Amino acid sequence: MTTIQFPENFLWGAATAAYQIEGAWNEDGRGESIWDRFSHRPYMVSNGDTGDVACDHYHRMPQDVVLMKQLGLKTYRFSIGWPRVLPQGRGTVNEKGLDFYDRLVDALLAANILPNATLNHWDLPQALQDQGGWPNRDITDWFADYARIVFERLGDRVALWATHNEPHVIAYNGYADGVFPPGIADHSQAFQTVHHLLLAHGKAVQVYRAGGYKGQIGLVHYFGSYVPASDSLEDRAACQRVYEKSSAIFGDPLLLGKYPDMLMEWIGSHAPTIKAGDLAVISQPMDYLGVNYYFTQRISADPHMGLLKAQLEHVAAPHMGYTEMGWGINPAGLTASLLDLKTRYNNPPIYITENGCAIDETPDKDGFVNDWQRVVYLREHIRAAHTAMQAGVDLRGYYVWSLMDNFEWTHGYGPRFGLVHVDYPTSERTPKQSAHWYSKVIDQNGLCD
Ligand code: FCB
Repeated sequence: MTTIQFPENFLWGAATAAYQIEGAWNEDGRGESIWDRFSHRPYMVSNGDTGDVACDHYHRMPQDVVLMKQLGLKTYRFSIGWPRVLPQGRGTVNEKGLDFYDRLVDALLAANILPNATLNHWDLPQALQDQGGWPNRDITDWFADYARIVFERLGDRVALWATHNEPHVIAYNGYADGVFPPGIADHSQAFQTVHHLLLAHGKAVQVYRAGGYKGQIGLVHYFGSYVPASDSLEDRAACQRVYEKSSAIFGDPLLLGKYPDMLMEWIGSHAPTIKAGDLAVISQPMDYLGVNYYFTQRISADPHMGLLKAQLEHVAAPHMGYTEMGWGINPAGLTASLLDLKTRYNNPPIYITENGCAIDETPDKDGFVNDWQRVVYLREHIRAAHTAMQAGVDLRGYYVWSLMDNFEWTHGYGPRFGLVHVDYPTSERTPKQSAHWYSKVIDQNGLCD
């Protein structure tokens, strides 16, 4: 008996990203991305791993779509590699690169799977970084031009678009902490990047509207849950700073047309240069908000901790523990985050565009992975999403991260997030226990106990 039922048109899917699965980094005219440059340098990625081959999806795409169909996915979220389409980031189009995504979209539609395409999942063309990257305001037009090229080719068939994935990672990991490419540590460049990512989003949405396409366009961001470590004024203020720097600095300009005041004051001279009219471009209506959720963090004030003077610690729900990434498992945080978005932004349509976990798992002698911890993780988060819907959140779909094990950025191939196991030496795919379980969820459109 189905105990938790989802609405009829609810979209069940799985997600991936270009650099994490495609491989073929220098084939068919693809240009270099900042992730190629970074991962090819020694000691930047665990174990010296790179995305050169990854899951070899570029060559195995047709079989991968067959696999998605076997799993019963209703939708598939992927990203388009900017350097595959425009090797120099702008100028000459690489037709072979665009053809690859064209074939992917057609294969998905033939399999009755709704394509959901993200334009920017972090793999900026290196040529554009060489011209200043995201802190250079010109990039907002380069991004809009890239978006136009992709919309013109795929806009008639792709139902759901996202401009960026998790822009805070680009801005902060890449330009403030320097732990992701381009490896810059400068708060001012990071906050300028935030503003340019948002402006580039707005310009791309304008291009989409001008083209009269019939799909929906939004932005995918990480909306984790943040709780103060105590009721003290200091901890609550620190928590508010973290929330504003992580979530509100993106959500507010997009959906309220302004930057969060408290944070802007706190960062002082690091605040970005904003031109008249920018916020109107950024805040023009978008069709949905993409929400990635993995964990909840407890925040305490700490005078020694960086720009925000805040200490962050993972929260694990009782009996839930931590994933292999050290991320606390707290499904209630997903409900809390969705409810916060509903209240703060007047109930926007939402898709959960990523949710999942890396666990320590070893295939048995037949190559099968019994990842029951992933089943529990997904089940409890799906339940938490349903709770939010019952409280009025306009949730339209849910994507597991990830369809298959893949290149987990600076962690390399160690952490495995997939529903499908990938044997990297052979690229062989084997659905795990969680994949079989998820197929049933999709089939029943809900959870059975
Ligand atoms: C998210 C990223 C995604 C993947 C998961 C684990 O932040 O969007 O590419 O790395 O984390």
